[in-house]
Amino acid sequence: MRVLGIESSCDETGAAVVDDGTYLLSSSVASSMSLHAEYGGVVPEIAARMQLEVIIPTIDSALKQANCKWQDIDAIAVTVGAGLGSSLLIGVMTARSLAIAKEKPLVSCNHVMGHVYANFITGTSLPDYIISEHEPDFPMLAVILSGGHSQLVLFENHFRYRILGRTQDDAIGEAFDKVAKVLGLPYPGGPSISTFAQKGNAKRFKLPKAMMSKYDFSFSGLKTAVLRLAQDQAGVTYDFPSFQLSERLSEAQKADIAASFQRVAIETVIDKVLLAAQQYNPKSVVLAGGVAANSLLRQSMRQKLFLPISVPDPKLCTDNGAMIAALGGWKLRYKQGLADPYSLTISPNLSM
Ligand code: KG4
Ligand code: ZN
Repeated sequence: MRVLGIESSCDETGAAVVDDGTYLLSSSVASSMSLHAEYGGVVPEIAARMQLEVIIPTIDSALKQANCKWQDIDAIAVTVGAGLGSSLLIGVMTARSLAIAKEKPLVSCNHVMGHVYANFITGTSLPDYIISEHEPDFPMLAVILSGGHSQLVLFENHFRYRILGRTQDDAIGEAFDKVAKVLGLPYPGGPSISTFAQKGNAKRFKLPKAMMSKYDFSFSGLKTAVLRLAQDQAGVTYDFPSFQLSERLSEAQKADIAASFQRVAIETVIDKVLLAAQQYNPKSVVLAGGVAANSLLRQSMRQKLFLPISVPDPKLCTDNGAMIAALGGWKLRYKQGLADPYSLTISPNLSM
């Protein structure tokens, strides 16, 4: 069962072909990230305009890389939410049109669930992907950390799950992005903080860990604490414009703040994961979402957790079409999510 996955929920446009939900044949991603860099965050109008231009070439490139013609594709899977309305519309309308024109079944997919299913890709013919060889076992604890979501979800089996906790305010990726902005580091903040932090002393500054009820997260207090710390280090008051702060900080100060923030954000996640692992005894833990690309998080998780941990290749952690093609394959297997190509709509606020 070869599924073409289409993802366009934020600033990326992804298309990929995955066989049986497990074997990656191609993945093509076009990003408008650089166009948003000067604004320090995604501008929906700019994202959607670019997606409109690149979506067909991206799909063509995924089919070509997979060596597939339309007759080799068995179904089309598309992200319907959560995400930016204008961006989602472009993916969904394209998928609907193609499903009608090419007479293919259409599968509707949840973006966050797609991030989790990137962990079920266990093989590929592509040279530059590091892919784990085994599917994660159930019960499986999913640690979902992206720019829009931070949650712990316990899966008893495919599509049978319970949300243990989620963030009560900012997502962890959002905190990385906002801290980067304060430090004058380029967007997206996650990769730039992670690189910059390598030069810093992660123990130099004490920052607060939010004390939330059992498995819930909160990252807005940490973000504000970083802002106050930066103001303090720069020797300015609370009303000093935050976009000018970085000019008053030395490279060493910035690196130490970045490293200390990254350490605390990661410790916060790991504390909760250890607690959940102790209580629910999962057979596997999977990391999902853009922040799962963070190398310190991956490394610390492996050091502290004595359970099989699955982490997708970094290219499959941030938004891509392969995770949607994989999820689509599993949904077809479990007879879920078949959609009417004449009426499928977007769900910008969709949750798991
Ligand atoms: O999953 P994703 O691509 O999009 C959403 O669904 O939100 O996640 C994007 C987020 C951004 O906040 C970005 O800063 C963060 O993932 N991110 C990282 C890293 N790479 C991307 N955060 C920490 N370390 C990274 N290496
Ligand atoms: Zn995402």
